[in-house]
Amino acid sequence: MLFKTNTELMTQARDGGYAIGAFNTNNLEITKAIFTAAKQEESPIILAISPSAAKYAGMENLVAMARVAAEETGVPVSVHLDHGTEWEHLVHAIQAGFSSIMYDGSKHPYEENVRLTAEAVKLGHAAGISVEGELGRLVGTEDQISVSEREASMTDPDQAMDFIERTGIDALAVSIGNAHGWYKGKPQLDFKRLGAIQKKVGDKVLLVLHGASGIPDEDIRTAASFGITKINIDTETRDAFKRGVAQFIQENPDVIDPRKILKPAIEEMVKIVDGKIKLFGSAGKAAGHIAELAGRAV
Ligand code: G3H
Ligand code: 13P
Ligand code: ZN
Repeated sequence: MLFKTNTELMTQARDGGYAIGAFNTNNLEITKAIFTAAKQEESPIILAISPSAAKYAGMENLVAMARVAAEETGVPVSVHLDHGTEWEHLVHAIQAGFSSIMYDGSKHPYEENVRLTAEAVKLGHAAGISVEGELGRLVGTEDQISVSEREASMTDPDQAMDFIERTGIDALAVSIGNAHGWYKGKPQLDFKRLGAIQKKVGDKVLLVLHGASGIPDEDIRTAASFGITKINIDTETRDAFKRGVAQFIQENPDVIDPRKILKPAIEEMVKIVDGKIKLFGSAGKAAGHIAELAGRAV
């Protein structure tokens, strides 16, 4: 298979003491930027595609671009469905050739999340790919919630054990005060809770941190030291895209060639992805993956 599964990439990252970036793409320019940075740093990457990205660009188009870029660059890559919330998202992703899926049942009551995630795992494993689930709920940065509501939305370490045993997930997205989008002020991540989760389930499941844009570098390093091996970035890449386009148009109001307008956007995104790859510790790790997998196949 051209693409690696998340389990293959993340297990090796866990053993090697680093994390792998999962970068969201919606189009050709973002995909190009992610692969350019990965090639530059000789890093494995996870290409994340959400259902709304698939609705915008077409799931098959996004996978086809990933296939071409994977062949051209040779970097180890997993193509991963991000936040699949409906059965049809999962089926469509598998049919399109994804190597990993996330089923996000976090909006459902616990028992329903267990039941639906277990079904997703059966489906994913039958197709030979890995499955990520989410326990606890990521609160939005705009949500006005009390301290006790915030606590209640976070992943409970004991419940995590039950969730993993009953669903069979390969990877668990944790809620420890992380949120999608820009944070208001400094993110307050509950590392005590993450440490407890790692102690309870760190040898049974791979751990994932969503909403990593805007988290200070030292907190990212701490999260990785507690066993986080997949770190999701979208907002910072989007911001770089917008910055590149906005600046170019301001300086060149008469240019209408989309290739010229989008070039600086790609360049800004490459800088962001490159910086994250270095921060996560996956720079220079591509060769290890290829060699390890080649060794396994012999
Ligand atoms: O966590 C969600 C990702 O940022 C994808 O967002 O659903 O707008 O594509 P999206
Ligand atoms: P950010 O947009 O906050 O970086 O979160 C990305 C994410 O979690 C994608 O699943
Ligand atoms: Zn997310």
